[in-house]
Amino acid sequence: MNDAPTAMGEAIKILVVDNDQEMVDLLMEYLSREGYAVIAAKSGQEALGRLSEVPFDMVVSDLKMEGIDGMGVLKAVKRVCPETPVILITAFGTIESAIEAIKEGAFHYLTKPFKLGELKVTIERALEHKRLREENVRLRREVEGRYRFGNIIGRSRRMQELFELIPAVAASVSNVLITGESGTGKELIAKAIHYNSPRKERPFLPINCAALPEQLLESELFGHVKGAFTGAYVSRKGLIEEAEGGTLFLDEVGDLSLSLQAKLLRVLQEKEVRPVGGRESVKVDVRFIAATNRDLRRMIGEGTFRDDLYYRLAVIPVPVPPLRERLEDLPLLVDRFLKKYAEASGKAAPEISQAALGLLLKQPWRGNVRELENVVEAAVALSKGPIINASELTPFLLAAVEKPSEELLVTLRELERGYIAKVLEMTGGNKKEAAKILGISRKTLYRKLLSPIDPPGFKR
Ligand SMILES: Nc1ncnc2c1ncn2[C@@H]1O[C@H](COP(=O)(O)OP(=O)(O)O)[C@@H](O)[C@H]1O
Ligand SMILES: [Mg+2]
Repeated sequence: MNDAPTAMGEAIKILVVDNDQEMVDLLMEYLSREGYAVIAAKSGQEALGRLSEVPFDMVVSDLKMEGIDGMGVLKAVKRVCPETPVILITAFGTIESAIEAIKEGAFHYLTKPFKLGELKVTIERALEHKRLREENVRLRREVEGRYRFGNIIGRSRRMQELFELIPAVAASVSNVLITGESGTGKELIAKAIHYNSPRKERPFLPINCAALPEQLLESELFGHVKGAFTGAYVSRKGLIEEAEGGTLFLDEVGDLSLSLQAKLLRVLQEKEVRPVGGRESVKVDVRFIAATNRDLRRMIGEGTFRDDLYYRLAVIPVPVPPLRERLEDLPLLVDRFLKKYAEASGKAAPEISQAALGLLLKQPWRGNVRELENVVEAAVALSKGPIINASELTPFLLAAVEKPSEELLVTLRELERGYIAKVLEMTGGNKKEAAKILGISRKTLYRKLLSPIDPPGFKR
């Protein structure tokens, strides 16, 4: 017995199937001598029985047999344990069916008469092939595991560091400030922190501080009592209270007005909220994760963000790098989005050509991962063949170059600016009147009017 064929210290199990007793004896003797654990079946039926009992590393079967033939055995193996290689033995003259068998997934076939050494080499090759495949699957799984954290994909050093940080951040009770350009995955990270934290069974509530007029935002956050303002017909709990035991995600926290900053600070300090118009405060246990694409330190310098609030929020600062600084993540992200959008539209996931990928790697990605995701989504929707090539991407990239800034946010800003201008025009420049119509304080209106106009392509 030689020392070669062992898997995990155990002999490799081969199932030998043949109607011919002499052949079975010959193969059994030879393969046992080679160190394999051989089990024989004298018919297809018997082979199927064996297959359902124990897993085999390899099956060697005659092709032409009474009853269930070699093809039947092959199909059964592919059904029960698709990774197990099957070697078929054919008599001269049944080559066509042997070729058919290869199509069905047989590893190889040997034509009678063959040398035993030939069988040995074929078995070794099949086992090597199987080992490589298993290795590949294992590697891919490992890569998947290592290059992703929940839904967050990333192999760059910065993202890997982030993946290491998230569990620790999740376990702590401290507030978190996630900073980074729009579309870098801040909300995704906030969710990952919440859903890996002891608070995961409690709510994760997001609120976008840039999306609502001040008064509405205030009552959203803190709630209000009946009659607190016109239209407050019933009292309503705010999101801070609703998030009890869980996490409140304050998105675009840099857009919070100074007066709301002061109110929020009080909640963080006292751990209680008082609804708008209410007299009593309610104790709350909420973790705050804030995010912004603004430079809060600069805003502190300019007097538009409170430093005391900053330090309460940024107990754990989590900076997220822009996509252009971690382009090694791009191919993985593209792969993921190709699959995601192909699946959503019931298509097979297309491949992306090298040239197309090269083109993507050259883009500035001012809208970061969100922009990349949009481009891939559009390409998948319109792609015709199994491969997306560079020319199919160009239209979407050109569109992206024409309006390079983060679509949603800048559009909203521009929208807001345009609307304010219109209201001012209507009121003949009367700011008090305009502020009333806009539902914001005069101070906020001044702040909005004074904030600098972004040059084209400027990122906040
Ligand atoms: N690392 C990432 N892996 C997978 N998807 C991502 C990643 N970063 C961002 N995305 C996707 O990009 C989009 C924008 O992410 P989001 O968290 O909303 O960004 P932000 O809050 O920073 O603007 C979402 O669809 C998100 O799923
Ligand atoms: Mg966001």
